[in-house]
Amino acid sequence: MSKLIRFGVSLPDDLIKKFDRIIKNKKYENRSKAIGDLIRNFIVEEEWKYDNKNSIGTINLVYDHHKREILNKLNGIQHDFHEYIVSDTHVHLDHNNCLDVIIVKGKTGRIRQIADTLISVKGIKFGKLSIATQGKDLR
Ligand code: NI
Repeated sequence: MSKLIRFGVSLPDDLIKKFDRIIKNKKYENRSKAIGDLIRNFIVEEEWKYDNKNSIGTINLVYDHHKREILNKLNGIQHDFHEYIVSDTHVHLDHNNCLDVIIVKGKTGRIRQIADTLISVKGIKFGKLSIATQGKDLR
């Protein structure tokens, strides 16, 4: 368990007032947890600037399953990268539209490559990679 360090930060008062208003709306009990979350987010975003960090991410895809060959294409790409695909949840949104939520684990560069390959498939209406972390180096 890492020990806690208390440190002083000087910031403009109007900035802190805005921050306090936001964290109150977000149900934070104190500034420490909110600032800790910001720092952890900052660290995770830094990790994603490199290609060789171990990480995990979620790819959201929305598409019309009637579009020619789209299911085969998405399936084929996932099989090409099967060792990185943790899961694929498929939701039938309505008669036409589907949502796939694909969890991908591996090096950041590989995850980005898989996301780019899936999102650029013809017929994808919305595609987005959400970055996350395996959490090992975060306290
Ligand atoms: Ni469907």
